[in-house]
Amino acid sequence: MTPDTTTGDKTAGAVAGGATRGGVLKGGGIKGRGSGRPGGADRDSAGLSLTLRGLYRTFGTTRALDGLSLDIQPGEFVALLGPSGCGKTTALRIVAGFETADSGSVLVDGSDISAMPAAKRDMGMVFQSYSLFPNMPAIDNVAFGLRLRKLRGPDRHRRALELLDMVGLTDQARQYPHQLSGGQQQRVALARALAIEPQVLLLDEPLSALDAKVRLQLREQIKGLQQRLGITTLFVTHDQEEALSMADRVGVMRSGKFEQVDVPDQLYANPRTAFVAEFVGTMNRLPGTLTSARDVAVLDSVLTVRAGAADGLAGDVDVLVRPEGLRIKAQPGGNGIVTDRAFLGSVSRIGVRLCGAVAVKVDHPSAHAGDFTPGASVQVSLPAEDAVLVAARP
Ligand SMILES: Nc1ncnc2c1ncn2[C@@H]1O[C@H](COP(=O)(O)OP(=O)(O)OP(=O)(O)O)[C@@H](O)[C@H]1O
Ligand SMILES: [Mg+2]
Repeated sequence: MTPDTTTGDKTAGAVAGGATRGGVLKGGGIKGRGSGRPGGADRDSAGLSLTLRGLYRTFGTTRALDGLSLDIQPGEFVALLGPSGCGKTTALRIVAGFETADSGSVLVDGSDISAMPAAKRDMGMVFQSYSLFPNMPAIDNVAFGLRLRKLRGPDRHRRALELLDMVGLTDQARQYPHQLSGGQQQRVALARALAIEPQVLLLDEPLSALDAKVRLQLREQIKGLQQRLGITTLFVTHDQEEALSMADRVGVMRSGKFEQVDVPDQLYANPRTAFVAEFVGTMNRLPGTLTSARDVAVLDSVLTVRAGAADGLAGDVDVLVRPEGLRIKAQPGGNGIVTDRAFLGSVSRIGVRLCGAVAVKVDHPSAHAGDFTPGASVQVSLPAEDAVLVAARP
């Protein structure tokens, strides 16, 4: 049986690529800088820079990409984060060469590779679905790209074993995909993508099919490998926790372009738009009314917001505040009723229904959250400094 065709270009692309470093293999792709084997101490490459420049792509009447631009530094790990349909996969497929942009270009190490076929691009790719060849054991899946590059049998075998060892699957080398768990299959896919020593690693929701525990383990493993190998990495996810915990920088996408590209703590602490504020982290939205240039009536009191916080707004506004920005205390006849409580470790997240059926989440130290059981009457308040104002939703 030949490699299954159901995975189409995905599988081919996951193992195809250009020249492999170290002078072992020859190809017509992007010139490499480093040398040495995957995971070896002799690896000296810090990856190559990757630039997405003004990418536009329309499918029929759908504008999938609307001028997407991004500069990724050599060895940097950037996550593309955004809701379903915002263009993440399209962007990745254009970088990989499986899709062409209507306009715009992709540059690796400063060279425009937009016209280069996928097979010549020195990129490893891992997809959401495992897309392994079902008719090959793990080791042959990993070795597949090396065979395409005409590496000799014993070298191929040795290299594939090294890669399997790197992802902790030495004992599963002879097992077929259907004999592997989802997490193991995804690790084989990762090993296969890394086998060709790509200079750019593209990961499209590689963890989304896995259960929470395996996800966490693989998160750490991918991040560790990426750092050790210094591969420039573009990681697509719609899971903000995954993006924030793994990436050096996160690009929040909306309707085919970036709303903000920033380091995780800046995205969280200084979101530039209401979309980013609500997409990254948990955000409460409380109805308020501006009573003067800087005074807003919200939650039974009037608070003064930072200078500039209310610029361009008047009348009804929404006040955005993180769960840790709200205060809560037990109070008979207070302004809210506890609906639920989730233990998150040192803090508990308490769900409260305020009058007007506004639901909010409030974080409170778990050690002092014992009173906040469902049905309890509480008073929720908001210190001024944490408030971000946006125009009220119609
Ligand atoms: N080959 C195609 N033909 C037609 N429309 C497409 C095609 N590929 C993507 N689209 C459309 O382009 C938009 C962006 O799709 P894309 O797959 O890039 O989204 P995404 O951000 O990866 O979403 P998800 O998180 O659901 O995977 C969507 O509206 C999608 O329907
Ligand atoms: Mg997608």
